[in-house]
Amino acid sequence: MRLTDRGLIRGDNLPVLRALPDGAFDLIYLDPPFNTNRRYGLARGRPVTGGGRAPGEVALAFDDAWPWTEATELLYHQALEELPPAPRELLRTLRQVLGPGHLLAYLTMMVPRLVEIHRVLAPTGSLYVHCDPQASHYLKVFLDAIFGPRRFRREIVWRSGWVSGFKSRTRNWVRNHDILLYYTRSRQYVFNKEAAYRPHPPGYRRRGGGANPSGVALDDVWTDIYSPWIMSFSREKLGYPTQKPVALLERILRVSTRPGMRVLDPFAGGGSTLVAAETLGRRWLGIDTSHLSTAMVRYRMLWRFGLDRSRFPVRGEPGDLRAAKDLAQEDPVQFGWWALSLLHARPLGARRLGAGRAAVRVEGALPFRDQILDDEAPPLLPAEGTPAPGKDWTLVVVQPVVRPSDLPALARRAEGLGARRVLATGLELPASTSDSWGTVAGQGQFQWPPDETGVHLIPLETLLRRDLTPALIQRPLRPL
Ligand SMILES: C[S@@+](CC[C@H](N)C(=O)[O-])C[C@H]1O[C@@H](n2cnc3c(N)ncnc32)[C@H](O)[C@@H]1O
Repeated sequence: MRLTDRGLIRGDNLPVLRALPDGAFDLIYLDPPFNTNRRYGLARGRPVTGGGRAPGEVALAFDDAWPWTEATELLYHQALEELPPAPRELLRTLRQVLGPGHLLAYLTMMVPRLVEIHRVLAPTGSLYVHCDPQASHYLKVFLDAIFGPRRFRREIVWRSGWVSGFKSRTRNWVRNHDILLYYTRSRQYVFNKEAAYRPHPPGYRRRGGGANPSGVALDDVWTDIYSPWIMSFSREKLGYPTQKPVALLERILRVSTRPGMRVLDPFAGGGSTLVAAETLGRRWLGIDTSHLSTAMVRYRMLWRFGLDRSRFPVRGEPGDLRAAKDLAQEDPVQFGWWALSLLHARPLGARRLGAGRAAVRVEGALPFRDQILDDEAPPLLPAEGTPAPGKDWTLVVVQPVVRPSDLPALARRAEGLGARRVLATGLELPASTSDSWGTVAGQGQFQWPPDETGVHLIPLETLLRRDLTPALIQRPLRPL
C-alpha cells in the first residue's frame, strides 16, 4: 500500500496492517478497546444537552464487550495457525488457564494485531500501548513474547484526573489511572530527552540555587495531564467516548519522534494522535472501523488546521450513491456519521424515529459563523470550535429518506436546540429542492434556497460530487 503524508482508513485494522510495508512507522500508538465489557455511546455534544442520553437515542460508537462465540472459536484457531511460535504457545496456554471467555476473546483479537504492529514498526521505532489494568498484564506478556523482554522500556502510569464525585461512589479503591506500555523495536531508538521535562512549578527555587533550567525530568507516573472527560468545561471534549487528550499524545510524539517521521494509530477513534501529529509536523495514518471516527477526524482537521477533504485521502468509504445506499441499509447510524463527515460536521448523536431499521436520524453541528465573512476574523475557527448554545451554529440532519412532512419538525428541532440554521441531507429528499440545488451547486453559485419551513435541503449526491464546506464557509446558510 502506498503511504501518503496524511491518511485515514475506515475499516478493520488487521487486513489494513497486513497490507502495510515492513518497518514503515517510526511511532505507533494504540488505544484499543480495553476489555471493559461495555458498549460506548457518543456523549451528546454541548449544543444539545450537557450529557446523558435522551430516550430513543441510538448513538453507539463502539463495542468493548467480547463474548466467546462460534466466530471467536474460529478466529482463535486461525490465530494459532498464523501466529509466530512464542505468542501462539502463550495463547494456547492461556486458554487452559482462562478458558474460552471474554478475556481470551479479547486477546484473540489483539494478539495478531500486535504481531503486525511489530512488523510495520521501523527498526528504530517506538510503540506505546494504551490500556488499563483489566488487560495490561496480559498484553505485556504478549508484547514480551513478540518484541522480546529486553525491548520493554517502561510502564507509564497516567493518572487521568482528579477523583470526581461519580467515581468515588464505588465500594472499592477509586480507579483512576491508565497504563501505557512502552516498547522499542531495537536498542537504537529515538528519545529526545530534552522534551522529557516539565516546567518547574511557579515560584520554584532550589535550595542553594542551580535549578535545572529545563525543568523537572519526567518520570513514569504522569499526573499533570487531564482527560477531557473529567473536565465538563473542556473545549477539547468532542463527545467521543474514551477520547484522549492531545497533550498526552504531544508528549509522546515530542519525545519519541522527530519532525517528518511517520506515526500510526490503528485504533484512531476521535483522532487525538492524528491531531498531535499534525500539530507537530509528523506524517500520520489513522485506521478505525467506525465512520464516526472518520467524521471526528475530518471535523478536527478542518476546523483546527484548515485541512479539507482534498488534503488527506480517506479509504474505505462509499464512493458512489450505490455504495451509500448499501451502507444505509446495512447500518443507518454509520451511514449518518459518514454523511456528516462529507460536510465536516461534528457528530452530536443519533435518534430512532420509528420502528423500521432505517428510521434513524443522525445529527451533527457545523460551526459556521457569520463573523467568518468579516475580514477581521480568521478564515476558520482558531481552535476546535465547539459550538455552544446561543452561538451561531447549524444543525445538520441525516436521514436515509426525508419526507416533506418531516420538514416542520426539523425546523422546530433546530430551534429547540438553539441552532440558527438547519440543513438536511439524505438519499431521498422532497423532489423539487434536489433539482434546483444540483444546478446551483454545479455553477458554484451559493444560494441556499431553504424550504418555506426554513430547512435547507441538499442531496447526498451533491455532497459526494463536491466538497461544499469551503463554499459554506464563504457564505453561510440563511438563518431560520
Ligand atoms: C478506545 S477508542 C480510541 C480512542 C482514541 N484514542 C481517542 O483519543 O479518541 C478505540 C477505537 O478502536 C476502534 N476499533 C475497535 N476495533 C477496531 C478494529 N478491529 N479496527 C480498527 N478500529 C477498531 C473503535 O471504533 C474505537 O474508535
